[in-house]
Amino acid sequence: MLLSALATTLLALASPASAAIFTARPANSTIGRGGEEFTLKWMDDGKAPSLADIGVARIDLCVGGRTNNAVVQQITPGVDLGKQPNITFVVNPSIGENGQYYLFKYTSASNNVVEGKAYEQFSARFFMQNMTGSFSGEQSALIAAATSGSVQQQPTQAVANTVAVSKSAVAASASASASASSKPSGAEQLAAPAVLAVAAGAIAYLA
Ligand SMILES: *[C@@H]1O[C@H](CO)[C@@H](O)[C@H](O)[C@H]1NC(C)=O
Ligand SMILES: *[C@@H]1O[C@H](CO)[C@@H](O)[C@H](O)[C@H]1NC(C)=O
Ligand SMILES: *[C@@H]1O[C@H](CO)[C@@H](O)[C@H](O)[C@H]1NC(C)=O
Repeated sequence: MLLSALATTLLALASPASAAIFTARPANSTIGRGGEEFTLKWMDDGKAPSLADIGVARIDLCVGGRTNNAVVQQITPGVDLGKQPNITFVVNPSIGENGQYYLFKYTSASNNVVEGKAYEQFSARFFMQNMTGSFSGEQSALIAAATSGSVQQQPTQAVANTVAVSKSAVAASASASASASSKPSGAEQLAAPAVLAVAAGAIAYLA
């Protein structure tokens, strides 16, 4: 009796850490471009809740991490995830800067059966190029928190050309990223260990 009550409690505590939307695109290596069409694709990962249970969700393009993020472009106020496998939109180039700062957030319109609250899920963090905007201080802080202060800005170039920039410093100077390689700054010094980490391929994008 006691044991079965305990088992029930443990089961309740262990209720599925939900991951039910698998984002087939973007992967962390995907590159989007400002001003061009981008197709986001999702599929059911087989875990509860199902896409049919999640149903209608809002989708936003965000910067930052899974825990703390800021919406930079709303993709749709509502799409039925169970009925449609993708959505294509044009990336607004003015929403931010070039770099691996972007991720999609799905938010269910209604409380879902597993979590009893609005369901949230995220894509991998991926690159945007041909962007013309600059991040606000708040956005830069969110990015810094999610990326340990540095990320690769150019996915395909040699490490020597990689500019790792403290995003909080970028807030002060939107052009810092463009000129950082020729203009020594506190941001670069702070980021130096991170450049080594990039060289080692050791940066984690899990936040
Ligand atoms: C999006 O999904 C539709 C099916 O609903 C499919 O016909 C189309 O090819 C998909 N587009 C892309 C770009 O994957
Ligand atoms: C995007 O950026 C690349 C590299 O800077 C440039 O060659 C290309 O013309 C740009 N494309 C558009 C559509 O602006
Ligand atoms: C990118 O995604 C691949 C495949 O999921 C994974 O193996 C790799 O560790 C990821 N890279 C980073 C830097 O997160």
